[in-house]
Amino acid sequence: MRTIFVTGGAGFIGSAFVRMVLERESDVAIVDYDALTYAGNMENLAGVDDTRHTFVHGDICDREAVLAAMPDGCDAVFNFAAESHVDRSITSAGEFLRTNIIGTQVLLDAARERGVRRFVQVSTDEVMGSLPDDSDEYFTEASPLQPNSPYAASKASAEFVVRAAQETFGVDAVITRCGNNYGPRQFPEKLIPLMIANAMNDEPLPVYGDGRNVRDWIYVEDHCAAIWLAYEKGRSGEAYNIGARNERYNIDVVTAILDLLGKPHSLIKYVADRLGHDRRYAIDPAKAENELGWKPSITWEAGLAATIGWYRDNQAWVDHVRSGEYREYYRKMYGATLA
Ligand SMILES: NC(=O)c1ccc[n+]([C@@H]2O[C@H](COP(=O)([O-])OP(=O)(O)OC[C@H]3O[C@@H](n4cnc5c(N)ncnc54)[C@H](O)[C@@H]3O)[C@@H](O)[C@H]2O)c1
Repeated sequence: MRTIFVTGGAGFIGSAFVRMVLERESDVAIVDYDALTYAGNMENLAGVDDTRHTFVHGDICDREAVLAAMPDGCDAVFNFAAESHVDRSITSAGEFLRTNIIGTQVLLDAARERGVRRFVQVSTDEVMGSLPDDSDEYFTEASPLQPNSPYAASKASAEFVVRAAQETFGVDAVITRCGNNYGPRQFPEKLIPLMIANAMNDEPLPVYGDGRNVRDWIYVEDHCAAIWLAYEKGRSGEAYNIGARNERYNIDVVTAILDLLGKPHSLIKYVADRLGHDRRYAIDPAKAENELGWKPSITWEAGLAATIGWYRDNQAWVDHVRSGEYREYYRKMYGATLA
């Protein structure tokens, strides 16, 4: 039995990863370490096999707690834990720098102390900044790191501390840089679940600027499969860009959601653009395809239908996460009150 240490496993992508690994890898046990911030939710782990999954509540910046939770000689650390929402980083960057940079350093130090074989840093395409509108340029692993938001700056900095641990101490590490994920259990502050939840409730759908920002969308399970392959087959010291070659204008994503839910386009409400809003992300995933043998398996049409279906079937989850702190956040961001 191999043990892996997963951080942020109660969040959107981390919980999908935990589910995938437990389903597919019968010889893997998981220690799942999460601080349960507003974005972490034990409901995301409902029904997982507890014989091979141990949940530990803790902060990745807390060295003693991390060391106490991380088993000696565990095979890998997968670092998903992060403050992950760009808008929140614009409002207040401090927690992003603390969790995303200091937390990564704490995990790297603990991994060395515990003799962990490999460190997998889950990064983002946003570290590479923005591409020109309507160009045929793509992010490759050779693209310079030029983050534009405090969130992206903190994730780029995390990549640098990973690199430094590798160069200085010989830590075996791989980095994945993925585009925008969508799928079940994503917190509704993010574009797709925000639009689904608002449309289901007949509330206005706030679209930034002219709606023509481009994002490269990937179904969360395809991202998780790529992270697993990077762990198993990736070369130490390398970064792998992960994307499904699925560029979409934000406004087209929003209208597709309304159409699938049978709701009118009149629910769309254009709002003032996000500060420093990156215009276009587009990923060339050729390296992951060629070196890791990875390919996305879920089409946009199938993934979006499955995602909408999940939110429709899980109204209690939606109602729960939209209560509490989220109501106040929403009021501040969009100047409107949720029903
Ligand atoms: N969502 C995307 O589209 C996307 C794309 C590429 C990369 N990523 C990266 O993937 C990772 C997961 O993203 P997500 O969308 O699932 O995020 P999320 O916000 O849904 O989940 C983050 C999780 O980390 C936990 N966490 C936050 N601070 C912590 C701390 N100090 N200590 C321990 N746990 C803490 C939260 O409780 C939560 O469970 C992040 O590192 C993010 O940068 C996300």
